[in-house]
Amino acid sequence: MIDNPFTGHTAVITGAASGIGAALATELAARGMSLVLADIDQVGVRRVAAALGTDRVRTLGVGVDVSDPDSVAALADIAYTEFGSVELLCNNAGVLLFGSVSESSLGDWRWLSSVNVEGTLNCLRTFVPRMRRATGWRHVMNTASTHAFLPDTANSALYSATKHAVLALTLGLRGELAADGIGVTLLCPGQAATRILDSQRNRPQTFGRRAGEPFGTGPIPMAIEPQAVARAAVEGILRDSPLVFALPEDTRENFRAQVAQMWHLADNALGDHAETQFTIGG
Ligand SMILES: NC(=O)c1ccc[n+]([C@@H]2O[C@H](COP(=O)([O-])OP(=O)(O)OC[C@H]3O[C@@H](n4cnc5c(N)ncnc54)[C@H](O)[C@@H]3O)[C@@H](O)[C@H]2O)c1
Repeated sequence: MIDNPFTGHTAVITGAASGIGAALATELAARGMSLVLADIDQVGVRRVAAALGTDRVRTLGVGVDVSDPDSVAALADIAYTEFGSVELLCNNAGVLLFGSVSESSLGDWRWLSSVNVEGTLNCLRTFVPRMRRATGWRHVMNTASTHAFLPDTANSALYSATKHAVLALTLGLRGELAADGIGVTLLCPGQAATRILDSQRNRPQTFGRRAGEPFGTGPIPMAIEPQAVARAAVEGILRDSPLVFALPEDTRENFRAQVAQMWHLADNALGDHAETQFTIGG
């Protein structure tokens, strides 16, 4: 483990105008990292960048739509032109929708997957080849969710499906980049006190009308603070952990039990056991 690989190096963080992304930016700036902060909320991300810049830490806020490959390419050009190199890529931008599998619209699915899955892939395909050509400490972190391990816990199977995809992409990438000495970490937060329930504030009209909102803008119950998620993430990056969970303490046991049920389901199907009743998400 390197003591502080952050000082003097540059991170690109997507979804940095708010919540976990903004907290990651704060945590990394405190450790001396220069920052390219990117978000579809241009005004918000410039505000976060301006607040974190110091004599020691250079910051830049850039408007980007991660679902658009051209927009991500422009972000990379700005990052490399202005900062010369990128040592840490945090693919964190993401959106959430609730709604049933059978009644969600195709627009709901396309929007969720365009940001959560294609957005992650666009950034990986744009930045990783350039990072590979460099030497020294380099790391990629993708933000998934505890939903990456569960089929559905709260009427959110579409969101879970996108986070399952991020899990698969991240573990695959970790294998691909091992020989290059580039670390890869999957960050799986549980409920965090951010604006995620109000994700549709960023939904483009091209994906059809907004889903009906049983959720809205209220506080998230039993939520961990985004700063705690960011601290756990940065510690995980330092250890080059493949997987980092950041959960509210009082939800940890329940999550563990749900993962165990998934494991038992597979174990029963693989072995000569009686079927386990599948109760997750019920
Ligand atoms: N808050 C939680 O409970 C929770 C739990 C698990 C995982 N996550 C994940 O954490 C990540 C960050 O979410 P958050 O909770 O901080 O929510 P948030 O809404 O506070 O922040 C998400 C940010 O992503 C940006 N964004 C949305 N669409 C974008 C796009 N197309 N291009 C670029 N930026 C875009 C938003 O403007 C916003 O600033 C997401 O990937 C989310 O799925 C959140």
